[in-house]
Amino acid sequence: MSEPQVRPVSDALGAEIEGVDLNRLTDAQFERIRAAYLEHGVIFFHGQELSPEQHEAFAERWGEINVNRFFTPVEGHPRIALVLKEPEHSANIGGGWHTDHSYDDAPAMGSILMARQVPPTGGDTLFAGMGAAYDALSDGFKTTLETLRAVHSSRHIFGTESKYADAMSDRFGNQEQATQDVVHPVVIRHPDTGRKLLYVNPGFTIGIEGWDPEESKALLGFLYAHAMKPEFHYRFTWKKGSIAFWDNRATWHYALNDYPGERRLMHRITVEGVALS
Ligand code: SIN
Repeated sequence: MSEPQVRPVSDALGAEIEGVDLNRLTDAQFERIRAAYLEHGVIFFHGQELSPEQHEAFAERWGEINVNRFFTPVEGHPRIALVLKEPEHSANIGGGWHTDHSYDDAPAMGSILMARQVPPTGGDTLFAGMGAAYDALSDGFKTTLETLRAVHSSRHIFGTESKYADAMSDRFGNQEQATQDVVHPVVIRHPDTGRKLLYVNPGFTIGIEGWDPEESKALLGFLYAHAMKPEFHYRFTWKKGSIAFWDNRATWHYALNDYPGERRLMHRITVEGVALS
């Protein structure tokens, strides 16, 4: 069995891995891939031919599968979330900077997204590195941020009052379960590597604990503008059979919605995580 070739794709985050068949991974190959995932925050593969069952089997090597309660599952595969945009849809799933599951007490460790059908052009996904974004802040500001905690919620995205409720009615469900808010530190330490990471995101963070909305908006606005600088980003172009596996603690992502009238079909499995500190 060959050694996986790991090629970093940017300074801030990401590595493309070649020379492996994810259906036939040896333990040594798995450990090399795991090290790349922890080092780079998101890893990419092309040309993988994984059935839904094989996608699940790959996910289970990393931990228990976390079933997202809001996404419509793939038919016959309740543990796989359907990430779909049909030609007649205008809204896509994930079309803004966010990290998955930050609204949970123990946010999912990572998401394994597999491309089943891609549009002829467009449909790329942007990724941002929260370790690089944190590192680039001044020491004084970092010290202040480390004293703060942020509130995260699912209700404005998945709840009954969501502005996406109509556009996503055929792709999201269980709106009544989008009721809880959770608090996480603004700066977390990665549970496996100990690296410090900025842990707020425009999708699900709704404020700073103990601050009023205007104060929260000002600080979060600054942090978002900072993390949205292109030097922290990588843009991934999908092909059928591509996989992106990102670490939800270390990255943001943004699915571009630039393929009107075309179909894009992805399968996503999330893997359980731990409480963050
Ligand atoms: C997501 O936000 O999980 C979906 C990302 C994508 O479709 O590229």
